[in-house]
Amino acid sequence: MEAEKQSRGVFSGKLGYVLAAAGSAVGLGNIWRFPYLAAEYGGGIFLLTYLILALTFGYTLMVSETALGRMTGKSPVGAFRKLKNTRLSLAGGWINAIIPMLILPYYSVIGGWVAKYLFEYMAGHVAETASSEYFTAFISNASSAEGWFLVFAFLTMLVIALGVENGVEKVSRIMMPGLVILAVVMAIYSMTRPGAVEGIKYFLIPDLSHFSWMTVVAALGQMFYSLSIAMGILITYGSYMKKDVNIETSMHHVIFFDSGIAILSGLMIIPAVFAFSPGDAGALSQGPSLMFVTMPKIFHSMGGGRYVAIIFFVMVLFAALTSSISLAETCASTFQDELHWSRKKSTIMVGLIVLVLGTFSSLGFSTLSNVRLLGMQILDFFDFLTNSLMMPISSFAICIFVVYVVGVKKIAEEVKLSSAFRFEGMYKVFIKYIAPFFVMVILLSSIANVLGIIHI
Ligand code: TRP
Repeated sequence: MEAEKQSRGVFSGKLGYVLAAAGSAVGLGNIWRFPYLAAEYGGGIFLLTYLILALTFGYTLMVSETALGRMTGKSPVGAFRKLKNTRLSLAGGWINAIIPMLILPYYSVIGGWVAKYLFEYMAGHVAETASSEYFTAFISNASSAEGWFLVFAFLTMLVIALGVENGVEKVSRIMMPGLVILAVVMAIYSMTRPGAVEGIKYFLIPDLSHFSWMTVVAALGQMFYSLSIAMGILITYGSYMKKDVNIETSMHHVIFFDSGIAILSGLMIIPAVFAFSPGDAGALSQGPSLMFVTMPKIFHSMGGGRYVAIIFFVMVLFAALTSSISLAETCASTFQDELHWSRKKSTIMVGLIVLVLGTFSSLGFSTLSNVRLLGMQILDFFDFLTNSLMMPISSFAICIFVVYVVGVKKIAEEVKLSSAFRFEGMYKVFIKYIAPFFVMVILLSSIANVLGIIHI
């Protein structure tokens, strides 16, 4: 990052750190991805699985990454190298760095959908967007889907090129609380629709009969994605963290904030599915389109829906932009730091990657709709590749690295620089045994599932 070139920047303190980490965590993952996964993979039991994983697994990995970053004062590739120059560390560092480059392109495609909906509401098309076919028609129209993807990608790259991330940070400090308030209001509205109670029950009450191994696989992937774990972001942020900031409570606050927004989004969207499509089981497995199909129905049914929709999509767009900007920034800084490219060259390279891979994802619903990668549409494939394959590998590398190269003791010492390590016992058991084992089981089962060896 820029600051690294001069003297390394630092966060002002705990609040600064938590806000920055939460800013990276809160994005489309919470508002768009979490609700559709929860709807599809069992409702309450998915939520419970997710929360348990975040507080044990997620917490362990977050502490490890942050402590690694703070200890070495480097971003991922450098941090891994500085500790010991082995082949493992090189691979561990690079896989961390490549994941954001694969996420950013399809993230921008979804960002484009958000921009499109904002535009439609500004134009007053409240009734049209509420029809169930509207969304499918839009994404299967190659030029319009590609056009909106380019709009979003252009906005992201413009901010990076101009180097005004700090301005965006300031605006997002107002937008983020705004998003929370609006989400509360919308959740209350959605939960009080006739028929919504079933949805609230489905989302909040765990029902074991909905549990399957896929619930765990999906929840784990979502946890990585939403908390921005296993892609080096937290290593970089850790390197900006002061030595007296309490690592443990900071992690808990980030998890609390991130899960809170995910739950609110679930309460906004899932009860609405039950209220607007009663008895339609298929409505719950809409997948990625869920938000774009359900929310327009809510807006259509509420008084002044057009204006609420405009505010809503402006905020979602901002949450998405702040995340895509930091993703792009991470990618650019890897090229700058590791290949010693100029900022301009790095930015152009990131732009090109986004353009090429994003176009594939975007056209995957129209021109390229016959293309199936491992049986998936292109966008789903990139999502699967990063969340279900690469992030488990990357977090496995982190576990091995912490246990065998750095030593768990060193991480514990780093944490204890600022506070007692209350969950040290749990941390040790997780990082040594449970996390690596579990991550491998998840990885192997999702590979086996894709190859059709087992069905989960
Ligand atoms: N966590 C973000 C979200 O929930 C997405 C994301 C993944 C991200 N990796 C990131 C954002 C890295 C910023 C930086 O939408």
